[in-house]
Amino acid sequence: MEKVLEYIINNQKRHLEELYDFLRIPSVSSEEQHKQDVLRAAQWLVDDFKRIGIDNVRIIETAGHPLVYAEWNGAGNDAKTILYYGHYDVQPVDPIELWETTPFEPFEKNGKVVARGSADDKGQLFVHLKAVEAYLKTQGGLPVNIKFIIEGEEEAAESHIDEFIEHNPELLKCDSVVVSDTEWFYYGMPSICYGLRGIAYFEMEVIGPNRDLHSGTFGGAVDNPINVLAWMITQIKDRYGRITIPGFYDDVLELTQEERNNFLKLPFNNDEYKKDLDLGELNGEMGYTTLERTWARPTFDLNGIKGGYIGDGQKTVLPSKASAKFSFRLVPNQKATDISKKVVDYITKLAPPTVKVKITPMGIANPVLVDPHSTAVESAIKALNQAFGKDVVFMREGGSIPVVETFTNVLKAPVVLMGLGLPDDNIHSPNESFSIDNFYGGIKASAIFINEFAK
Ligand code: BES
Ligand code: MN
Ligand code: MN
Repeated sequence: MEKVLEYIINNQKRHLEELYDFLRIPSVSSEEQHKQDVLRAAQWLVDDFKRIGIDNVRIIETAGHPLVYAEWNGAGNDAKTILYYGHYDVQPVDPIELWETTPFEPFEKNGKVVARGSADDKGQLFVHLKAVEAYLKTQGGLPVNIKFIIEGEEEAAESHIDEFIEHNPELLKCDSVVVSDTEWFYYGMPSICYGLRGIAYFEMEVIGPNRDLHSGTFGGAVDNPINVLAWMITQIKDRYGRITIPGFYDDVLELTQEERNNFLKLPFNNDEYKKDLDLGELNGEMGYTTLERTWARPTFDLNGIKGGYIGDGQKTVLPSKASAKFSFRLVPNQKATDISKKVVDYITKLAPPTVKVKITPMGIANPVLVDPHSTAVESAIKALNQAFGKDVVFMREGGSIPVVETFTNVLKAPVVLMGLGLPDDNIHSPNESFSIDNFYGGIKASAIFINEFAK
């Protein structure tokens, strides 16, 4: 173990430079023009697996972007197996004008590497390759067998990894799944996440007259699609922050008193939170704290809205259509397909006969809770504690990682959400960054985890 950790320290700079290379590839999965770049990122991973000494590695085609699969079985049949998951695709860079540096030219600032995908998820997933490298280069092997399944569609509307897992449970058989794609509660506070929200995403189009009209000539007699869209949106949530769709809360698991108490023990301050966001007041479901609202309560949010004239000056138009994208975050034990049905029913009934309303369900993911007491989690606590010299806290996340539920259901192995991000990483935003301390410490933690879990 000492040799492994020594190797990690001696190779830090090179590991960081390799990460920079990985970050230079603009693997934006949702944009058609980056299709080749996404493939290049997959190929880059394959090459890195070979560099670190894993030859059993391949690109697996899917109907969308490919998966990268790698394995090393040298520990033998009696040893445990760890499966690592990560995603090599990244979010689009928009709005590009708000970036202080070029998104795909990594830049070091205040102890962080700034680049799209640095924290979500290239930097976090790369940590595990480098920990494995340290074992292979110093010991010629590991005390566990390892598998990696890395996807290129986590940030896209459609993903094929779930299908692949369902068809290949034997290939992916393991004793624990390690996922580093979440955040710490705070800098210097290593955290294990035990809950993720799910999501149900929709696109809605409201279609009125067959062409744009003069709002003076027709206004007052013809329903305006933007007005209708705006009205419909206000019918989804009431002024107490409760979603008004019938049956929406049927399966919501209430927080236990113990969980609520644990949340209260975390160093969270509403005033600082407001100050950081330049907000005078917060708004959310009545009767719940900010952490409860973001980690354990469902939500409804518009993600984008389109319609009419927003150019210079004024244009008196009654537009022929308007559209919106919106999503619900879901919590245990809501089922994304059930919610999707309820949403479509509700919107369909709500639609007035003056317009046509088309609602299209998009991506979905079920919420998950992982076992916070599994032996894998115990090992992760020791690993983070030793690598960072700090106590480890438990937390939940408001975000979603769709595949986690599939791992739990199909592989029946405990999942460990050993994230290394920080709340100020700006994931999905301009100036995304990843803490270099967490990158170096994460490699150590991953190496210690392997050693602990092997015991
Ligand atoms: N890594 C994130 C999930 C996440 C977000 C973890 C915030 C911790 C804090 C993941 O890449 C992500 O962005 N997930 C999407 C899923 C969606 C596109 C189905 C999300 O949560 O919006
Ligand atoms: Mn991610
Ligand atoms: Mn993401």
